[in-house]
Amino acid sequence: MTRTAATDNSLRKVQSLFTVEALIGRRAFLEGSVSAMAVGSMGYLTSIAESLADTTQQTVRRRAAHLLKSDDAEVQVLRDAAKILRAKSGVGSWEFLATFHRDFCGAMQSKEVHFSWYFLPWHRVYLTVFERHLQAAVSEPKLAIPYWDWYSSRAIPTILAEKDNPLLDETRSPEAPEISDGRLGILSEADLVDFDNFQRFAGGELGNVGQLEGGPHGGGHMYAGGNMGAFATAARDPLFLAHHGNIDRLWEVWRGAGQNGPRKEPTDEAWNARPFVFLGPDGNEVGLVSRETVSTVDLGYEYDTTKLSGTLVAQNPPDLALPLGAGQDLALALKGPDGRTDGFELTANGAEFRPVLPGGNDISSALSTASASDVANGFKVSLKFSGIKLSDQPFQLQVYLNPPPNAGQLDPTQPSFAGSLNILATGDKGLSINAYISLNRRAQAVDKPLADIPIVIQVGQSSGSDSPKTVAVAKAELVIE
Ligand code: C2O
Repeated sequence: MTRTAATDNSLRKVQSLFTVEALIGRRAFLEGSVSAMAVGSMGYLTSIAESLADTTQQTVRRRAAHLLKSDDAEVQVLRDAAKILRAKSGVGSWEFLATFHRDFCGAMQSKEVHFSWYFLPWHRVYLTVFERHLQAAVSEPKLAIPYWDWYSSRAIPTILAEKDNPLLDETRSPEAPEISDGRLGILSEADLVDFDNFQRFAGGELGNVGQLEGGPHGGGHMYAGGNMGAFATAARDPLFLAHHGNIDRLWEVWRGAGQNGPRKEPTDEAWNARPFVFLGPDGNEVGLVSRETVSTVDLGYEYDTTKLSGTLVAQNPPDLALPLGAGQDLALALKGPDGRTDGFELTANGAEFRPVLPGGNDISSALSTASASDVANGFKVSLKFSGIKLSDQPFQLQVYLNPPPNAGQLDPTQPSFAGSLNILATGDKGLSINAYISLNRRAQAVDKPLADIPIVIQVGQSSGSDSPKTVAVAKAELVIE
């Protein structure tokens, strides 16, 4: 693989508008945390930035962690590197890097890199920089971060879970031996990458959460618990690198799963030109903008596989009279138990919703007779939540399609479980988010008209007893497109 010149151009001092000081805020800048720690750090971050631009740097290959063995030489190198960075303090230490993550996560909207389309590019650069720190610690330019492919192997990979191991974080407390469907939130890798649209997959402007972030990303953090359970501490756990490694890999899987050629990242300047900044030793900033993060090879790594496992939800030409053209969608408000169509307070006791059909036209006659499976075979069916209020506790919203009557308390092991949203705690409770859950896979199996199917939404019961009892959601809609 050859590296392009783009990387060289991309590493430069960014405009003053985007200085670290401006991004972090003057006060925080003066008071400390990461930036102050980095000032005077004798070239550490600059050398990493330079090595990102170094065209002689070889492309390292990130592998699936569950396929690695504890006695593999590359695993030993990884343990050595982790041990060194974890024992270090100050700039360039593991704790320094974990703090760097904390400062961009759930702290303030101007810097937020979650709940939006900056989620993938920011974490991509972050992981790459982390990988360079690990390489530098053991002078091994071939070192690569392994990834945890949860859809293929649901237990935390052995190399990250063995006792007396620098890749283990003692605070971790997995909820179960394996991560469940409930925590992955999206039923399969194919369902996760189903939409061509980047925003649907990976988020849009601040407050629009993609399936990847709201499903398995948040769920993986919650499943692992301990430091991983909260943005502020997550990157202390080496599992963070493996979890985000897979998230980053799924970006490649998503791009390659396009049926008419590679899918495209957004062209909006707001996405393209957003800089991600690291601070150099002399107080100058170096960084990349989103569009410069699109090629992993330019950043010096690739994955052992980026092939989609499984098959996309098949969409047959619709054979029902739903007058929806390509690219059009239909959003049906959901009506809750007390007849409301907005302002819901969801709880752990499932509330039952039904879609409101538009009054007396072709669409409603088609929808009141066609079965859900016919609709879901010709179109894509999703649930859209708007205005979900964030919380200082993590929470989960679960969606069930057509559960049997008198099923009692529902849980994600039941066949009616359609998907979930897994949202981490944030210090910035002023934000509310919009998010989708794809219902297609389940809807294809239901033989009743959509309008007759109970859709149950409930707040997940989590092992951490402090998750909120109610979650406020402004609106929920069934989207057919
Ligand atoms: Cu920046 Cu998974 O978190």
